[in-house]
Amino acid sequence: MSENFRQVLDQRLSRRRFLQSSSLLAVTAGLPVFAVDAKPGSVQSSLTFRETGHEMTPELEVPAGYKAQVLLKWGEPLSAAGPAFDPLQQSAEKQQQQFGYNNDFIGFLPLPLGSSNAKHGLLVVNHEYTVPQLMWPGSPDDVSLNKAQTDTDIVAHGLSVVEIEWRDGQWHQRKDSAYTRRITPLTPMQISGPAAGSSRLKTAISQDGVHTLGTYGNCAGGVTPWGTVLTGEENIDMMFGGDFSQSPEAASLKRFGMSATPQKSWSAHYPRWDMSAQPNESFHMGWIVEIDPYDPRSVPKKRTALGRFKHEGANVYINSDGRVVAYMGDDQKFEYLYKFVSAKTYQADNRAANLQLLDEGTLYCARFAADGTVAWLPLVFGSGPLTVANGFRSQADVVIDVRKAADLLGATPMDRPEDVEVNPVNGAVYVMLTKNADRTAAQRSPANPRAQNKAGQIVEMTAPKGDHSAPVFAWDMFLLAGRRDDPSTSYHPATGKNSWLACPDNCAFDRKGCIWITSDGAEDFGIAEGIWAADVSGAARALMKRFLRAPLGSEICGPFFTPDDQHLFCSVQHPADGSSFEQPSTRWPDFDAKLPPRPAVIVISRTDGQPVGT
Ligand code: FEO
Ligand code: CA
Ligand code: CA
Repeated sequence: MSENFRQVLDQRLSRRRFLQSSSLLAVTAGLPVFAVDAKPGSVQSSLTFRETGHEMTPELEVPAGYKAQVLLKWGEPLSAAGPAFDPLQQSAEKQQQQFGYNNDFIGFLPLPLGSSNAKHGLLVVNHEYTVPQLMWPGSPDDVSLNKAQTDTDIVAHGLSVVEIEWRDGQWHQRKDSAYTRRITPLTPMQISGPAAGSSRLKTAISQDGVHTLGTYGNCAGGVTPWGTVLTGEENIDMMFGGDFSQSPEAASLKRFGMSATPQKSWSAHYPRWDMSAQPNESFHMGWIVEIDPYDPRSVPKKRTALGRFKHEGANVYINSDGRVVAYMGDDQKFEYLYKFVSAKTYQADNRAANLQLLDEGTLYCARFAADGTVAWLPLVFGSGPLTVANGFRSQADVVIDVRKAADLLGATPMDRPEDVEVNPVNGAVYVMLTKNADRTAAQRSPANPRAQNKAGQIVEMTAPKGDHSAPVFAWDMFLLAGRRDDPSTSYHPATGKNSWLACPDNCAFDRKGCIWITSDGAEDFGIAEGIWAADVSGAARALMKRFLRAPLGSEICGPFFTPDDQHLFCSVQHPADGSSFEQPSTRWPDFDAKLPPRPAVIVISRTDGQPVGT
């Protein structure tokens, strides 16, 4: 351990009054967070479920006394008249009317609007990306799809909106619902906020830099208090290809991670995704998109005030003064954490005004310090280094090139920020940092303390006096994940032998304030992906329990509780990943030799009708 790092560790330890145990101080990296001596089983979590197994299997498992209903599967027609799923006869026309691929974020929005009905509502689901190897016979790779396959592939992305209700002990999709909607990379949308109309956004599909088409790479998201969904455009670089080195925007495209070598077939068939022809098209992507699912004719809005990067998602919190704060992660190695604070305040009785809140306000990036503080640095044109001298001519340029702006402000490079959510019970903000194997020992920092970090961590941030608009928060390490016996992890000493996790990705909170965590990368450690849950305070703080075991190759994402906690929706994404259409490693969820494995939304309930987790 370098002297410098040892000092950092000492400061953090004394700040939280940890036990000054030599064995704790001897860990090469990491900030132990427990000052209790407890053996497995000696401290009880408030979560009563019996843990599942953690070995990798073709099946999905939930605890005894729970059931998991498969609610929506890739290819299912969303209306009664829609085309039945036939994997050998798939087409763009059919896919457009069917549930998309690789469901990720899920939002449950009660019906009617404004109610907290837990038995009837709209489900809004992201379809992040596709796996052609598991979608078509012969297992074509992503770049080799022909035009017809590419057209199908394109509309397998985006989102689905469906109406669901609880009846006779089961959830049902209403196939005659007027709310049913597919949103795809071809759906008309509008660019709003500071970048709207920028000359840099004027492209072949947009004469005015305001109107645009579609969303894709939709990873996580959030539901706003005014009943809309925010969806994050994440790995949008995959769809583009073509040499952009001669473009005046080459530096900007490079900073976003664009590459001339395409990872998908889209640019081979459409100039829209060919950067040698249309380098500015990618500026239409990488935003947070706000969708009003209660109005099926509404035009989704790209909220450019929230910045352009590889958005995991966005979660909105109403601050004590009524302004709304959105927390966001840029999910790439060494990228940053952001928050947006609105200029105007939330009005419970004025939805039309709330629908404009995310267009005006201040965006900040985060700088973590060893003394347990985190500073929010404003990304405002004309302030600090964000000037013409550094290539920024307006706030439009700041939000389009927000990574560059955050570089100049000295934000802290993080280990892939995924979900960032406020716990509604204690008001603390939890940041899932999934992993970063590329971090070197010299690049370690207090909130990212491990080199070759393959297992990820969870950081907890606290707003002073609950004021989320404040310029400085406090932070703590909530969990350093990884193998149970890895000394650089920070498990509660009472954590069970098989209760450890790796690579936290998404999270949710139940009404008691317990945190529910999903993983994306646990299989690299030889255990199944899944869901874990823990208390956030008291003697069992961060005492992890495994709640769900995912089927082979899949990750679980999008955990979302109904308002009464009686049902937990989640996505099973990319089951059988890494295998082939003909020989999948699992045929979950149908286990039918004629059907491929299918990403699906499941809903977990207790068989006795009590809330999940209690
Ligand atoms: Fe799509 Fe951030 O994982
Ligand atoms: Ca994710
Ligand atoms: Ca993921």
